[in-house]
Amino acid sequence: MNITMIGTGYVGLVTGTCFAEFGHHVTCVDKLTDKIKQLNAGQIPIYEPGLDALVAKNRQEERLRFTTDISGAVAGADAVFLAVGTPTSRRGDGYADLTYVYEASKELAGHLQGYTVIVDKSTVPVGTARQVSRIIREANPKADFDVASNPEFLREGAAITDFMRPDRVVIGVESDRAEQVLREIYKPLYLRDSPIVSTTVETAELIKYAANAFLAVKISFINEMANVCEAVGADVTALAKGIGMDGRIGSKFLHPGPGYGGSCFPKDTLALMRIVQEYGESVRIVEAAVEVNSAQKARMVKKIRDALGGSETGKTIAVLGLTFKPETDDMREAPAVSILPALLEKGATIRAHDPQGMEEAKNYLPEGIHYVADAYEACTGADAVVLMTEWNQYRALDLDRIASLLNEKIFVDLRNVYDPDTMKDKGFAYVGVGR
Ligand code: UDX
Repeated sequence: MNITMIGTGYVGLVTGTCFAEFGHHVTCVDKLTDKIKQLNAGQIPIYEPGLDALVAKNRQEERLRFTTDISGAVAGADAVFLAVGTPTSRRGDGYADLTYVYEASKELAGHLQGYTVIVDKSTVPVGTARQVSRIIREANPKADFDVASNPEFLREGAAITDFMRPDRVVIGVESDRAEQVLREIYKPLYLRDSPIVSTTVETAELIKYAANAFLAVKISFINEMANVCEAVGADVTALAKGIGMDGRIGSKFLHPGPGYGGSCFPKDTLALMRIVQEYGESVRIVEAAVEVNSAQKARMVKKIRDALGGSETGKTIAVLGLTFKPETDDMREAPAVSILPALLEKGATIRAHDPQGMEEAKNYLPEGIHYVADAYEACTGADAVVLMTEWNQYRALDLDRIASLLNEKIFVDLRNVYDPDTMKDKGFAYVGVGR
């Protein structure tokens, strides 16, 4: 199959590369000349484990190419995937901004040749595929095409595994022809028994929002239970185990922490709330999850303050991990982005380390943070250490060394990585989340 991927952001780049790995011929298009130059020089603009090797391999085997020329890329394609950004609208109303999706649709319309399936890969509100269809039809009345929806469920840091071994592939189609093309594209997965859920375009669009909203609800639920555990003196880790073993609940996404972040959950929960509002409906459980998540981030500031004896003013805090989760350099909506400024404002000094995210963090955090080379340098002379993101590097710290470097042996573990008893034995005043 000849596939064109429009947009070489996170989703476009991973998806395009994985399709090439399946054996398809993939052309990735982006307007950003510098980015295409970079990719053609073998440089990967994002940090995603395994992606660089896969891009290199597929470029070398001539199944993957990068270009700024949309016309040539669209003309010979069996399917054109739209993987452009859909950020939260600048109006601040929670709606997804569809400008890039619509612009790309208009632009590609004139270059279509032969039957082509246009596939929405970006997370878009219900009804977007129909809009895309209308735009293409108006721009090129003679075009022979269908519009389909094929939402992605990739986790950053595990995107390639998620792509190659998905729980399911969702396709929303309006015709058998379009379904055949998408089934052919995903055939290598089908042969591995990955189920394909084939449904209407609207249902596929909504599945993406419903999946992310449900996962956000699950995290907010366990975060609230963690707070309840703190109040009654229970242990949320055992609680999560106790409920998670019930197959109806499931043990995944029951890790309490400083609140969810990233490019998906915060954006998609807000967008879902707005979409349903337009139809006169509401998703009150999702609204509550969003509220709980903001409160959880604020609660972490208080947790750190309390651990420091009631005030962070004049204290030095070592922060381990800045990104919204490990194995990514993504800082979007990271809990650190709301927690650290609050501490700085009250006159704390922050010594921060992150294995991949420090450069990116500088775009999201105020000036005045001291970025250091490793966890031990961060702890040197600090009055407390806060484990913010559970990178593997922080899972087996030399605790005796940390204890000897700290001014005060205060350890705030926002990801419950360490065992409270062990930490107490080592002489730390240890605070976790919900235990
Ligand atoms: C998510 C979805 O998992 C993926 O299917 C979708 O396509 C995009 O959004 P991602 O944002 O990469 O992926 O990260 P994910 O691993 O889901 O974590 C999101 C946030 O939730 C992180 O901040 C993480 O720390 C937090 N989280 C996750 C918890 O606090 N507790 C958990 O149990 C799980």
